[in-house]
Amino acid sequence: MPEASSPATSADAATGAVPRVLSGIQPTADSFHLGNYLGALRQWVALQDTHEAFYCVVDMHAITVEHDPAALRRRTKVAVAQLLAMGLDPERATVFVQSHVPEHAELAWVLNCLTSFGEAGRMTQFKDKSAKQGTSGTTVGLFTYPILQAADILLYSPEPGEGERVLRVPVGEDQRQHLELTRTLAQRFNNRFGETFVPPEAHIPPGAAKITDLQEPDAKMSKSASSPQGIIDVLEEPGPMRKKIMRAVTDTGTEIVYDEEKKAGITNLLRIYSALEGTPIPELEKRYAGSGYGQFKKDLAQIVVDTFTPIRERTYALLDDEAQLDKVLAHGAGRASKVAARTMEIVRDRVGFVGRGH
Ligand code: TYM
Repeated sequence: MPEASSPATSADAATGAVPRVLSGIQPTADSFHLGNYLGALRQWVALQDTHEAFYCVVDMHAITVEHDPAALRRRTKVAVAQLLAMGLDPERATVFVQSHVPEHAELAWVLNCLTSFGEAGRMTQFKDKSAKQGTSGTTVGLFTYPILQAADILLYSPEPGEGERVLRVPVGEDQRQHLELTRTLAQRFNNRFGETFVPPEAHIPPGAAKITDLQEPDAKMSKSASSPQGIIDVLEEPGPMRKKIMRAVTDTGTEIVYDEEKKAGITNLLRIYSALEGTPIPELEKRYAGSGYGQFKKDLAQIVVDTFTPIRERTYALLDDEAQLDKVLAHGAGRASKVAARTMEIVRDRVGFVGRGH
């Protein structure tokens, strides 16, 4: 898959056309975590400057596993507040909740009918989650989850004639396979029914694509799998944040060097440090040559605290004004709906659904 890291090209500037970007995040925890931030959300914020951006909180994905309705409602609002607190500007980027735009479910149905059972069964995230829950605890919704994700993305395909037809999707490494399926489905739809969708490009940040668990540095930092000690939450207070970094698992040596195989823990911390401070890893290795893990971790803890404290404070301030948050969501839903409705009109016609008449 092409790894798009280029922002808007000069050709975009020449034609006045702006490439599109779309991504989504699940409201399945009380806070986003450091992996979400470095793997995806930071890119979301940066890309709103150079792209026509659509970002959704995917509450329909969040019900593919057992959930509590009150928690989902609360987490959806907290998710939106965090996105705004990180710097998404609802005037520039379309920030919305997936279930506010029913076309997501409608397109998912059409794409379900283009996906083979075997293809869906090969998705590794499904295999991992369903293995944990057993067949009776695994819903059909979890099985078709990646197809709903494909619909999320393809609904925002730029139409022919809308300038440079590019659709970028900033995500972490764990979403690569879902993006491949989305490209396959786009191409399959186009082959059967005529040119409609742009196969999306994954935008995966080198270096921060897979932040690992602080206690299990070979496993992904994950809201569903990590222990509280292994995960840094964006909304966490500075005290616990520092403690977790100081207690992060490292190997028995003392040297601060990048070595994925032999020093997975220190390598993960180096990646986090480098991504947050914008300093290349070799420079960090030089800076900390001979100084031991303690000082390195202390400095890293300070950088993490400095990054997340203003975001935490802004998030709580935004949550204090729910009416304003609702306004932002209504505005986002309106903008997203316009694009989604137009795409579905084309899709219904292409697949042969008869128009309703007036
Ligand atoms: P979700 O909600 O699990 O995660 C949101 C984003 O965070 C990234 N991420 C990570 N990146 C680096 N290191 C980690 N440890 C880490 N953990 C999570 C994820 O890759 C993701 O980009 N299926 C998606 C949600 C989705 C979506 C979409 C994404 C639904 N529709 C359309 C893009 C486009 C998911 O579960 O993300």
